[in-house]
Amino acid sequence: MGRLKKILIPSLGLVLAFWFYSARDTFKPEMLRGKRVIVTGASTGIGEQMAYHLARMGSHVLLTARTEARLQNVVRRCLELGAASARFVSGTMEDTAFAQHVVREAQAVLGGLDMLILNHVGASYFGFFDGDVEHVRKLLEINFLSYVAMTTSALPMLKESEGSIVVVSSMAGKVGFPFTVPYSATKFALDGFFSSLRQEFAIQSINVSITLCILGFIDTERAVRAAAEVLAERPAPRDECALEILKGAALRRRELYYRYSSTRLPLLLRDCAAELLDYLVRSRYRLPATPGAPRPQH
Ligand SMILES: NC(=O)c1ccc[n+]([C@@H]2O[C@H](COP(=O)([O-])OP(=O)(O)OC[C@H]3O[C@@H](n4cnc5c(N)ncnc54)[C@H](OP(=O)(O)O)[C@@H]3O)[C@@H](O)[C@H]2O)c1
Ligand SMILES: *[C@@H]1O[C@H](CO)[C@@H](O)[C@H](O)[C@H]1NC(C)=O
Repeated sequence: MGRLKKILIPSLGLVLAFWFYSARDTFKPEMLRGKRVIVTGASTGIGEQMAYHLARMGSHVLLTARTEARLQNVVRRCLELGAASARFVSGTMEDTAFAQHVVREAQAVLGGLDMLILNHVGASYFGFFDGDVEHVRKLLEINFLSYVAMTTSALPMLKESEGSIVVVSSMAGKVGFPFTVPYSATKFALDGFFSSLRQEFAIQSINVSITLCILGFIDTERAVRAAAEVLAERPAPRDECALEILKGAALRRRELYYRYSSTRLPLLLRDCAAELLDYLVRSRYRLPATPGAPRPQH
């Protein structure tokens, strides 16, 4: 008992001290002023909103996605909002050579990189797993391999700037989700790759932060179109989501949960009551007798 006290009380003190300390480092928009940032999947949705927030904070943004016309509009708006500079490179992340090309562009036009925000996702379907292995392969290339390729190419610049990597994932990348089997698989892959890489950075004293973002249901057009009818849940606003991601990134957090109540709290069950968590996930869906034909989704 005496020994327990000797260990317990100091560790409790440490936990409290740590909590106090970490609660004190707060986000300031100046943290991102003048920073050189790549945002992928920036033509719509959360990526577009991150670009606007970065622009307001005075960052240099390099945006990418496939649709050039949309990127032109986003770049124009970023300049209106006060971006230090705003540019885009259009192309598809199915091709790892393109992913590397975007990073080289940052080197060429910005002379370095402070933050790499990996956010894009390829189109998938919403419905029971249909057995299409080629689709899984293609989605892994877009949602996972291009993230690996960009990180690899950007690492020399990020080491130099003591920069940050931000990986946008999902609840579906922490716990099994029905009707998005291929998507969920690609998000789990990101957790494995980036959590392992973070360990190696720690061992090698590489001061590049990795922030894995675990998002719940967000009100982007694509997500709402795909899931609003079946998900018995109100989506959270994408502009607030985008800002929370940037705050977590600037504070070099290990993981970021948004919204906290629908992501972090349920995940506490994962290690002690996995079946209850599975049940809670299933209970979020309003299911017809037989879920309809697969519809396009993320
Ligand atoms: N919305 C949600 O409920 C939700 C929930 C959890 C996690 N997330 C995550 O949040 C991130 C953003 O999601 P979102 O809802 O904002 O998605 P979104 O609105 O569909 O945006 C996806 C972006 O990726 C780009 N993209 C798609 N296919 C591409 C390809 N082959 N090559 C290059 N770029 C491509 C799209 O632009 P183009 O079509 O012009 O290429 C677009 O800019 C994703 O990582 C997603 O998994 C979202
Ligand atoms: C890591 O980099 C950040 C940002 O430059 C800096 O604030 C922090 O002190 C660095 N940490 C170490 C251990 O060098």
